[in-house]
Amino acid sequence: MLPEEVQSKLALNLVKEIGPATEKRLQEAGFQSLKDLIVRGPVDVAEVTGMEMDTSIIICNKARAVLEELGIIEKSFVTAISLYDRRKKVDRISTGSKSFDELLGGGIETRAVTEVYGEFGTGKTQLGHTLCVTVQQPRWQGGLEGKALYIDTEGTFRPERIVSIAEARGLEPDVFLNNIIVAKAYNSAHQELIVEEAGPVIEQSGARVIILDSAVAHYRAEFLGRATLSERQQRLNKFMHILVRLADTYAVAVLVTNQIQASPDSIFGESVKPVGGNVIAHTSTYRLFLKRSGKNRIARIVDSPYHAEREILFTLTDKGISDVG
Ligand code: GTP
Ligand code: MG
Repeated sequence: MLPEEVQSKLALNLVKEIGPATEKRLQEAGFQSLKDLIVRGPVDVAEVTGMEMDTSIIICNKARAVLEELGIIEKSFVTAISLYDRRKKVDRISTGSKSFDELLGGGIETRAVTEVYGEFGTGKTQLGHTLCVTVQQPRWQGGLEGKALYIDTEGTFRPERIVSIAEARGLEPDVFLNNIIVAKAYNSAHQELIVEEAGPVIEQSGARVIILDSAVAHYRAEFLGRATLSERQQRLNKFMHILVRLADTYAVAVLVTNQIQASPDSIFGESVKPVGGNVIAHTSTYRLFLKRSGKNRIARIVDSPYHAEREILFTLTDKGISDVG
């Protein structure tokens, strides 16, 4: 259950169309607050509760209106100047490296989904681990004094690594470990269930970052061959959209890691493409490509709506993601 003051602020019955019977039905289906309704959306709400689609649409739209009114989510119509003001104030989390942060305009952005792709060993998982620590630090050190939710699909989350990153930064490891919630996803359906149920967990814990390492591995392993491609993309698409709505509704940063595959359509030699086709590309707000450069690593920002396509050098040390030299 959510804390009382949060619950009353987001209570389902703030929407007058939600009477006691509907409220009970929604709660039984796992929807605890108005935020849950808009994260899942009308199609899911109708499917899970068995209510009419029309009713579900009305309820979800009203839920959005109430949250807009409360200033919890962005209004549908806003002036560019108020958007600009809000963008200047958007919270960011330090990656652990100054130049990496600069590349991103100050760190990994909240209310957005950032995709990071690259070959094995390029630092995707290390970035996830580092953010679990930096997000907890005070603002003047690049954090948000928030917690982290780590969804591990590859079995590569290592508490020992959190300990070493914290210790190397002069921090008390136990405190930091205690503020990271780890969910191990055993298959794609389980991974979907975890994000569908993540809302109340974020609310209760005060998480400001969600790491999904990796977004695609289960889909890639389970859906083999061309015949299953469209189902895979559909499922991945729905999954990514839930992440986008979680980011926006709960003001969290979402980091998804992605694998790469050799691109057969390249005529210019070395070329790699992230897995997941257009789905991940189109749903992520920012995309980062990591690659090796001797002992160091290069991070390049690609397809950003407002960053120039630029790259920087960073390195992987005991501190996690770090500056070179
Ligand atoms: P895949 O998941 O296999 O695709 O790779 P990835 O991009 O997630 O790689 P990951 O982030 O796990 O990076 C692994 C690299 O991080 C290693 O090759 C090391 O260079 C570095 N690394 C990992 N742990 C440590 C550590 O404790 N100390 C130091 N100095 N470097 C580490
Ligand atoms: Mg990894």
